[in-house]
Amino acid sequence: MDRREYLKTLAAGSLSSSFLLESCENNPKTLTENAVSSSTLSQRGVKASQTVLRVDFDLYFQAASNLYHEVDNPGGAFPLNVAENKLNWSLLKSKLEELTSKNPISGWVANYTDSVGSPTSREVMAKFLSKHLTKCPIDPAQIGLSPGATSVIDLTSWIIGEPGDVAVFPAPCYSVYKQDIGNKAAMERYDLITHHELTDLKNGPLLTTEHLDKALNEIQSQGKRMRMLVITNPDNPTGGIYTKEQLESFTDWCIERKIHLIVNEIYALSQIDTSHPNIKNDYKDNIEFFSFANIMNERKSDYLHRWYALSKDFGASGFRVGVVHSMNKDFLAAYNNLNGPSMVSNYTQWIFELALADDEFVENYITTNKKLLTDNYATAVTALKRLNIPYVPARGSLFVWLDLSEFLDGNTQEAESKFWLELYEQTGVLLTPGDGFGHTKRGQFRLVYSYVPQNHLEVAMSRLGDFVNKKRSQS
Ligand SMILES: Cc1ncc(COP(=O)(O)O)c(C=O)c1O
Repeated sequence: MDRREYLKTLAAGSLSSSFLLESCENNPKTLTENAVSSSTLSQRGVKASQTVLRVDFDLYFQAASNLYHEVDNPGGAFPLNVAENKLNWSLLKSKLEELTSKNPISGWVANYTDSVGSPTSREVMAKFLSKHLTKCPIDPAQIGLSPGATSVIDLTSWIIGEPGDVAVFPAPCYSVYKQDIGNKAAMERYDLITHHELTDLKNGPLLTTEHLDKALNEIQSQGKRMRMLVITNPDNPTGGIYTKEQLESFTDWCIERKIHLIVNEIYALSQIDTSHPNIKNDYKDNIEFFSFANIMNERKSDYLHRWYALSKDFGASGFRVGVVHSMNKDFLAAYNNLNGPSMVSNYTQWIFELALADDEFVENYITTNKKLLTDNYATAVTALKRLNIPYVPARGSLFVWLDLSEFLDGNTQEAESKFWLELYEQTGVLLTPGDGFGHTKRGQFRLVYSYVPQNHLEVAMSRLGDFVNKKRSQS
């Protein structure tokens, strides 16, 4: 199927993957009666066979195989919808190549090791986190490694939640959490709305304990149990950073109610230099990232946990290294006993052990990364400002969360999908649709500014600008 044909089918709602998911979810009877009776799979297997991970993955792979290049493919596409940081790969790549060529493989690499990571790898990981990210001591016995944050989230949910328990996420929020907590642990996602317009977030995330009270009441009135609160800091998709005071208030609130609080710090080292001349006027206060590990160390509560991965900060999503951090002994024991199917390959552990132990390399990587991220971020938002497109000023993460609702025929899912596909078809710019991020306002999109180099991002933003200007002149 060529791209035009594909887009038409998708727009018409007849493409299997994304629409089967909706039809199964909206009508579980269809799933049980029709599909299960004729299938060789379990009910779970049938559901999984029809539940796509993300509605925009097919188009992502299509756009990624037709990447823009000024000489080789000037009509190419910009897949700005998947959270990849490709800006600093050359630095990591040359470091890994140097390490693999200079170091003989350690003896333990070919053997079984602890299911949550080899002792030496966990020690290096704990030191790296402590020195560069959390700025407080981390005990290697309190962390475990799994292949990527996805695996960490999946297993954490399985250990903490009963089927039907509810996990609360401040909206808008990373869409795939729904699958990560739901596919195996069968937990439900509750999207907590704190605002209507994204411009309300210009000074940071708005979540308060009053919002949490409201969510808890609503969940309990449905006869369900709120089991965990998940905060992503820096946030996906808004790029906001939670203050120490916010994190402390959520901690008190959760511990008092025996609810688990988990902070996902997967973007902790992907920070923007807010003093950059082209963006500095967007920021009123100087909010510094404050790692939740400090609060965990102070409270030592069984209800506090942290997630991390090398996928974003090191642009290393393909290596699959995720980290869980907890002081809950039972939780750690369960994690250890269940992580067998999800161990990180020893070769990957070994090579990152060498890289992360090199402080000079890590410091250089983080500084260079911040500069590259800031330059690309400034390129994206300078264009948005010029075009008068509302966006949330980000302090971290790889995203700009923006509002294109003025171009929608209505506040509906169909209108959003139609606009999203039209934008991609006419410009090659593929954004992440707001669908799945749990917010009520349609027409909000996520732009990943770290997928292409700055000069390519300029072309993408210029194409987006031409499209927007044409739309405005037509209306
Ligand atoms: C907030 C958040 N958590 C988890 C993940 C998944 O990360 P990984 O590739 O390490 O599984 C992502 C990826 O986009 C993310 O944004």
